[in-house]
Amino acid sequence: MTEKIGVNIQYAIKLLSSEELVSIPTETVYGLAANALSEKAVAKVFSVKKRPFFDPLIVHVSSEKKIKEYAKNIPDIAFRLAEKFMPGPLTLVLEKKSIIPDLVTSGISTVALRVPDHLLTQQLLSQIEFPLAAPSANPFGYISPTKPIHVEKMLGNEISYILDGGNSIVGVESTIICFEKEDVILLRKGGVALEEIENEIDKKVRFQNNSESIQAPGMLKSHYSPLKKLFLCNIDNEFKYFNKQKVGILCFTKKRNFVSNVNQFVLSKEGNILEAASNLFSGLHYLDDLDIDIILAENVPNRGIGMAINDRLLKASS
Ligand code: TXA
Ligand code: MG
Repeated sequence: MTEKIGVNIQYAIKLLSSEELVSIPTETVYGLAANALSEKAVAKVFSVKKRPFFDPLIVHVSSEKKIKEYAKNIPDIAFRLAEKFMPGPLTLVLEKKSIIPDLVTSGISTVALRVPDHLLTQQLLSQIEFPLAAPSANPFGYISPTKPIHVEKMLGNEISYILDGGNSIVGVESTIICFEKEDVILLRKGGVALEEIENEIDKKVRFQNNSESIQAPGMLKSHYSPLKKLFLCNIDNEFKYFNKQKVGILCFTKKRNFVSNVNQFVLSKEGNILEAASNLFSGLHYLDDLDIDIILAENVPNRGIGMAINDRLLKASS
């Protein structure tokens, strides 16, 4: 019998080719992958994740050259960003070609495309004829997985195989952008920092404003949530309001002496924002599995990938 977690790419290919699901490693988070060209396989993704059908999936391809097979009328600025940031944690929302089933895109006319920067998944993608539709491998709304054991804990009973690519290095999901005439619009903060995109295109990125319809449910107010109530606060000043309960703390750089050691998780001792992002979801999984009532968390500096960390913390908080 094949173990549930392993590095057997050929087995993963066999499953995916028979319209089964496989969890795949990426540099951002683990994905729950299906043949994006098979409605039957894609339907399983929605059902296993308990994901509403109105929330479209990201399609993963082996290289930026493949984007043209699935999208059309691609603006020059998208090619430029693809060349700079792909493979990597950037997702481009583009006009879709009809080869992509409507189920993947929830019936809208655009498709989200991304080239993951992970050796195993690159090897996998280069050996199959179809792209992979893959949302994060967590039940809808819950904490994303950055290790195979996170996937096993959440979805182990529902999927046959988890391809083990170690820890996801970036640790937060891809940055999602779309295009409107000459403008670049940010739909979700993520692994590629806003500043890096603005440097490359030499102008400001527009934020999707609230009155416009929600285009990426990653933008929904509540998402990435642990089961425990999480409060985003100034921990040292506000701990007194919570000290009647069993408290866990997600610390940026240092543990506090007013809570037991095991009930705390440090994102980065050195205050390294990249390391903090890489540890973020592991920290949330760790704390959520403890015997505590609530989780206190604090913001990190709001620059670079720190903007994505703060965004996830805000959405995880109640
Ligand atoms: O880093 C990532 O992007 C990870 C890894 C596995 O690649 N995937 C991921 O997928 O985060 P998911 O399904 O958890 O989030 C995808 C987001 C959703 O918020 C969805 O609404 C948005 O992408 N999205 C997908 N297609 C879209 C489209 N055509 N227009 C706007 N948003 C779209
Ligand atoms: Mg997700």
